[in-house]
Amino acid sequence: MLNHHKEDTIESILQEERVVSPSSNFSINAHIKSFQDYEKLYKKSILEPESFWENLAAKELHWFHKWDNVLEWNPPNSKWFVNGKLNITYNCIDRHLTPSRRNKPAIIWEGEPGDSRILTYENLYVEVCKFANILKQLKVTKGDCVAIYMPMIPEAIIAMLACARIGAVHAVVFGGFSAESLKGRLKDSQAKILVTADGGFRKDKIVPLKSQVDIALENNSSSIEKVIVVRRTEENITMRNGRDFWLHNLQQNISTDCPPEIMDSEDTLFILYTSGSTGKPKGVVHTIGGYSLYTHITTKWVFDLKDTDIYWCTADIGWITGHSYSVYGPLSNGATSLIYEGVPRPSNLGCFWNIIEKYGVNIFYTAPTAIRSFMKMGEDIPQKFDLSSLRLLGTVGEPINPEVWMWYYRIIGNEKCPIVDTWWQTETGGIIITSLPGAISSKPGSASLPFPGIIADVVDKCGNSVSRNTGGLLVIKNPWPSMLRTIYGDHQRFEKSYWKFLSDKSDKCMYSSGDSARRDTDGYFWILGRTDDVMNISGHRLGSMELESALVSHHTVNEASVVSVPHQIKGEDIYAFVTLNNSFKASDQLSNELKQHVTREIGAIARPATIQFTQELPKTRSGKIVRRFLRQIAAGQSIEGDKSTIVNPNVLNELEEQAKWLRNNNLYY
Ligand code: PRX
Repeated sequence: MLNHHKEDTIESILQEERVVSPSSNFSINAHIKSFQDYEKLYKKSILEPESFWENLAAKELHWFHKWDNVLEWNPPNSKWFVNGKLNITYNCIDRHLTPSRRNKPAIIWEGEPGDSRILTYENLYVEVCKFANILKQLKVTKGDCVAIYMPMIPEAIIAMLACARIGAVHAVVFGGFSAESLKGRLKDSQAKILVTADGGFRKDKIVPLKSQVDIALENNSSSIEKVIVVRRTEENITMRNGRDFWLHNLQQNISTDCPPEIMDSEDTLFILYTSGSTGKPKGVVHTIGGYSLYTHITTKWVFDLKDTDIYWCTADIGWITGHSYSVYGPLSNGATSLIYEGVPRPSNLGCFWNIIEKYGVNIFYTAPTAIRSFMKMGEDIPQKFDLSSLRLLGTVGEPINPEVWMWYYRIIGNEKCPIVDTWWQTETGGIIITSLPGAISSKPGSASLPFPGIIADVVDKCGNSVSRNTGGLLVIKNPWPSMLRTIYGDHQRFEKSYWKFLSDKSDKCMYSSGDSARRDTDGYFWILGRTDDVMNISGHRLGSMELESALVSHHTVNEASVVSVPHQIKGEDIYAFVTLNNSFKASDQLSNELKQHVTREIGAIARPATIQFTQELPKTRSGKIVRRFLRQIAAGQSIEGDKSTIVNPNVLNELEEQAKWLRNNNLYY
């Protein structure tokens, strides 16, 4: 059914009626036990935000010195726990060195070749102190920036924590990025030291990190003075005298104690680059106090963390999810955080399930793109493993299509694990919209409700709230502790990118996420896609998510990406790129069947004019489908823009060829 629409809002056309509630057993034992508890907590957090955050900060974190004010809010600039002093590593390590926790695993690490390591809180303390002392020896001081370009090995986390220990700012660059991308980020961050490894193992190959570093540092043009190299693959690499140092050599005779630097709540903890659509990376800046509290409390409540849990977030530490939910949030809670160097690959399709079985993982947090790839491989793979230790599942990074959600629920969770669909961004630092697993029932495909302390809304382009079930811009209307403070070196870009209504009246000063969404009559948020991807079909503005979910709900479809192409009469027409589940083949007949399926599911308005079957969709390194290029391909334009954001740019050429063929055979208009 189409909803009433206005020119500046987005229509919602997909109806999803399923509701999945947690078992009473889960709820009884949860931190937040009922919807009434959530409502009470939420209400208090909104009516008295400062006392809400202040109480949590006092109860959940250790401060060396208490703050004077909870919040100074001069939109869009916020300061949290003003003049409060702390060190995030004290909260993540030192305070867990108690008789009951010091020998508890802080990090369980599994390498891709099958090697593994367990670091207890005590071990982590020693390793972080040693690394911190090495940084000091290399003349790193408070406020200096250290770049980290590493595989997923414990030293990556140790390096991050060592920086935080001495007050240095870390800038982690995902180990899958090229020398060129690394170079750009080093230049922007002005990092002094680079921490890397000889290489890492990924998909049965060696990722040659150090040689990428050598290329990035050619001509001595960067600010990097010293490079610390961790031995991982034992491949031959070149070490430049006076610049490059093996970590194991630096560790000789180094002290195992390093007192935490007393940091101000608003000192910078890290810079993390996100690839903006313009290609110029944005260095998102997070500060210590607010980020510490928000990642701590979201980890505790959203993942319903218990002291006995083995918790696994599959994100790489090169992304914000790795920062907040593999490192800082879990460690601050004294949890056991599992990290894995590899990814599922033809030689080991079941590696994730094997790890869950091996370590008895209880909480598993991953991305829709990964779940879709598991679906494609077939359910017989996870079914070979004992996944009964799992009690909670999570997802993040993209809208999850309802059918994918159901598969995750049935096949991985055995219909007993709640799923938390967590909406948030690099910029928000932590989870913003989510269900709380013991308290809020899930609707497959909806990220549910705002976390306590968050006023989220859907507005039109003038900043006015839209009515229920109408799509619009997803915004956050109040400050929260882990909000980004600026874009490194470009405060103006920060204001322009996220604070659309800054110059208007102050009540319209709100954070613009760049996503579109709708709220249903229960107040649940449904993310419709990025606002850049909204289509205009015969005057109806439609988000990409619902059309894609309609396609994915057909049993043959694995993934779908829908864009619009110019059309003389309708303005724009729908063009769908579709990958199929294994064992299904592309055909004209299937194309027609899918078009009919979409018509049946959501109406003729959404019927794709063209379906292009493909083996693969272009994705970013963090697994997001890039629709920008698909639009160009669908419209028969030459591909423009920075292709280096795509994992496998060859996909674009293949898609271009196929699109040409479709057009030449008149299967297009
Ligand atoms: O479009 C939204 C999508 O991912 C974007 C943020 O990406 P990034 O900064 O890389 O952070 C990813 C990890 C937090 C958002 O603007 N996104 C993230 N989570 C969801 C989502 N879209 C729908 N549902 C989600 N749960």
